[in-house]
Amino acid sequence: MKPGTKEQAAIFRLDRDDDYLRWREEKLSNAPLSADRLFVEIKDMNSPDEAETDKIIALCRQTNMALYACNRTCDDEALVRAGTQSFNAHFGLHRFEDHRSMTPDGLVSIEVVNNSHEGRAGFIPYTNKPISWHTDGYYNPTARRIKAMTLHCVRPAREGGVNELFDPEIAYIRLRDENPDFIRALSHRRALTIPAFVEKDGTTRPQSVGPVFTWDRYTGNLHMRFTDRKRNIEWADNETIREAVAFLRNVLATDELVLKYKMEAGQGIICNNVLHNRSAFQDDSSKDKGRLLMRARYLDRIEGTC
Ligand SMILES: [Fe+2]
Repeated sequence: MKPGTKEQAAIFRLDRDDDYLRWREEKLSNAPLSADRLFVEIKDMNSPDEAETDKIIALCRQTNMALYACNRTCDDEALVRAGTQSFNAHFGLHRFEDHRSMTPDGLVSIEVVNNSHEGRAGFIPYTNKPISWHTDGYYNPTARRIKAMTLHCVRPAREGGVNELFDPEIAYIRLRDENPDFIRALSHRRALTIPAFVEKDGTTRPQSVGPVFTWDRYTGNLHMRFTDRKRNIEWADNETIREAVAFLRNVLATDELVLKYKMEAGQGIICNNVLHNRSAFQDDSSKDKGRLLMRARYLDRIEGTC
């Protein structure tokens, strides 16, 4: 089924099953069981060639994500930043999320920081603690949904810092197969509330109320907004939501299609904001430079997948 077609747009309608079942069968039969199947070797991140580009787009169409490895990438931060930006733009990713911690090139350094780093200190991503399952930007308003995200590893941790990845379309399939009412409940416009948050500079990030699942009626693109955190989050107060969230948590903990990978230096992920988490990690105390990943978030989807 081609993205952006009428058939694709119909698959998420709950009042008819034919298109959904056809798409589901194709999706599950092609789903990778291992992260190794998502890898594409890239010779130069500044200008991926046609074959590399086609592979990345095909993987993202199939499973909303691709992993890449670029051997020429070094740990010169300026070169990595420039390469990452060119690479992402090559795949149609231009509109950055306006994030408090990003540098003018739109990238955010994910590393352990001390209290002198105003914008990042105190937030879990900038510690060595685990991060639970989520899609990026779950606290954003609907109009500023994060549709794509990339992570590029400059330096891995000595131990840990492993990511698990899960395609939101597979999460949708698991939930709908179990009980279509789970999808109805999670698609409700008040399903998930993230309370307002006052930033350290005194500005307020407003409350975010919205569904977990939305999809574009014309293109069929599915978007998922989810966090497994337990504090400062309000699920709609009804039994179906509680059951759906518990079911989803169990899927994320046990599903054979959850992919696990620890990125090495020069490797990265480009994705349509798939579900992901991160395990705790330890850096090498004998070195002054610890784990460093470059993250970018976009309001665009990956070109060729929409
Ligand atoms: Fe994330």
